[in-house]
Amino acid sequence: MYDVAIIGGGPGGYAAALYAHNFELSVALVERAEVGGTCLHLGCIPAKSWIHTAEVFAEVAGAAESGVIASAPTVDWERARQRKNAVVAQLHKGLLGLLKQRKVEIVPGTGRLAGPGIVDVTGEAPRRLEARKVIIATGSMPRSIPGYEPDGVRIVTSDHALDWTAQPRRVAVIGAGAIGIEFAGFLAELGSEVHLFEVLDQILPGAEPEAAKLMNRLLSRKGIKITTGVAVDPPVMGPNDITITAAGQAVEVDVVLVAVGRAPVTSGIGLEEAGVKLDRGYVIADRRTMLTDAPGVYAVGDIVAGTPQLAHAGFAEGIAAVTHIATGTPAPVEYRAIPFVVYSLPEVAWVGLTEAQARQAGHDVVTFDHGIGGVGRAIIRGSAQGLVKIVTERGGPILGATVVGPEAGELIHELMYAVGWEALPAEAAAFIHAHPTLAEAVGESLLAASGRSLH
Ligand code: NAI
Repeated sequence: MYDVAIIGGGPGGYAAALYAHNFELSVALVERAEVGGTCLHLGCIPAKSWIHTAEVFAEVAGAAESGVIASAPTVDWERARQRKNAVVAQLHKGLLGLLKQRKVEIVPGTGRLAGPGIVDVTGEAPRRLEARKVIIATGSMPRSIPGYEPDGVRIVTSDHALDWTAQPRRVAVIGAGAIGIEFAGFLAELGSEVHLFEVLDQILPGAEPEAAKLMNRLLSRKGIKITTGVAVDPPVMGPNDITITAAGQAVEVDVVLVAVGRAPVTSGIGLEEAGVKLDRGYVIADRRTMLTDAPGVYAVGDIVAGTPQLAHAGFAEGIAAVTHIATGTPAPVEYRAIPFVVYSLPEVAWVGLTEAQARQAGHDVVTFDHGIGGVGRAIIRGSAQGLVKIVTERGGPILGATVVGPEAGELIHELMYAVGWEALPAEAAAFIHAHPTLAEAVGESLLAASGRSLH
């Protein structure tokens, strides 16, 4: 009898498994592929490795501007792919080592909830696990749209595109969420012809419109052809080309990347039979404890209804579930201040409420925008395009913030504290940012939000 059986070894599941050592809980972690899940093997990590390659390429291509004369860069796709694989392998090895050190038992196979505290594992070595509590952490998989069913070669999802063995010459990317923007961006940077289609009127529909508009301009400048506000017709598959038509405009490409969202993996694993309630495939879980409607069964990560499908949200939910299991006291995830980062070049990041969300929630909103064009460090780096936007309650705390620009994914974290601690702009602005840093863009914005701008 284990204290906890976890089905799924991605960020939600493995974080729960690792964290359990704090309470000396015995853990069985059931995984049918590799621990690390989508994030480590088919998502965050390999994607960021490709994006890093693109960043280095752009840096070398623009080196002359900084007085460094390098020969025109070319892409060795296979080496970039090997590097990506090496990064994943190193992190995978590290994770396996950590799980071993924490005495987590990894059980290979597919887990199925067979009743309260019972998990049946099928695969090469079928077995039944008994546990005091069960955590479901089965993650998500790419969605598709009619006519665009992935074949893995000509119509693909991020699962395939992260391991392309050659650079595609012409690509259509369907969907301009985080995945679509990240792929479109690095492929264009590396020289592919990219057509990006978004059905809504704005790329990055969850982001502040100003940030999305700026990114639209910057991505277009890289040569990406962006079409928003129209749906694509089903593809016409020629012998060599694929024709994609949207609003009567046709383009020919070699490959289509479908990036229209991810669906929860929750069917066929005994959830409803065990009393777990689902909403359109997502698991309904208590936000304070991560408990589902089935006694002793918790859910964390991408399968949870109404919480962000982000690796770091999964980590936090895994920790919350284990803490509740061990202590009986809820330790809820601070959903108010989870940073979103899109690893485009430049990056886009936001935390807390957007202006529209704040108004919708009934706040009397005041916002402050600050471009980063005047920030010395950004100019030195040759990347002074971006903005900081701060959303506050009139006379009250900071409710949310957005950063577009170099290292936005790092800079957002100081604003995460401001939002999380409900800081007043003047409280946050009382601290001095080092000069010259990119973070001064945030400092200036906070000063402006406190009513006393400097530059
Ligand atoms: P998403 O939900 O973020 O974006 C999908 C996009 O496709 C939306 O803009 C949607 O309007 C659009 N779309 C839907 N149907 C369409 C159609 N028929 N034609 C054209 N556009 C259509 O999903 P995405 O980008 O696939 O990512 C999946 C999940 O993974 C998301 O929750 C995302 O936040 C997460 N993720 C996060 C990353 C990050 O934080 N950097 C990176 C990659 C994924």
